[in-house]
Amino acid sequence: MTQDEMKKAAGWAALDYVTPDTIVGVGTGSTVNHFIDALGSVKDQIKGAVSSSEASTTRLEQLGIRIFDLNEVSELAVYVDGADEIDGSMAMIKGGGAALTREKIVAAVADRFICIVDGTKTVDILGSFPLPVEVIPMARAYVARELTRLGGKPVYREGVVTDNGNHILDVHGLQITEPRALEARINAIVGVVTNGLFAERGADVLLIGTPEGVIRKP
Ligand code: A5P
Repeated sequence: MTQDEMKKAAGWAALDYVTPDTIVGVGTGSTVNHFIDALGSVKDQIKGAVSSSEASTTRLEQLGIRIFDLNEVSELAVYVDGADEIDGSMAMIKGGGAALTREKIVAAVADRFICIVDGTKTVDILGSFPLPVEVIPMARAYVARELTRLGGKPVYREGVVTDNGNHILDVHGLQITEPRALEARINAIVGVVTNGLFAERGADVLLIGTPEGVIRKP
């Protein structure tokens, strides 16, 4: 089974958590693209979606799924998204696709975060995947110095501008044993918009695509 087939299995399994006649929160990435395809198969049974990126919006619209502005929506039953890494406490690193800020905002509104991954994304300790940090462009060098003081090695993701017009620093070399504390610490650096640690608001359900089938946690 290929990695993409594992992503597809997890993406389609997430359909079980979508309630008819609701608006669905939709994340970003190659795993979520499979979920969007699955959502297309039930598009007449849902009201529509709130999207976390321009890329997901385009894919949803191509399937005829109505997009709602988050400001028009007071509640979302579920938010479905992938992750770059997820640990045993359901804390995640996200932002490999640079959509972390909007992802974190939509996730904050949702009652339940359904995380969909292939079997390569589960880890004991977060940090092998470089931690993305979205920064206001003029603060990039200052934030990089502060992240170095925290023990990381920030690398500017050249050529990438987020949907919000900002830059990304990818922080290498971290062993994240206290994800909640580090999430708060990095967010407190002036010029940081968001960091890719999703620990304070982690996942509620994890669906892992594996060659043996989809594992569901809890
Ligand atoms: C997008 O910014 C990310 O948070 C994605 O959710 C994450 O990178 C997972 O992406 P894939 O599903 O493409 O692996």
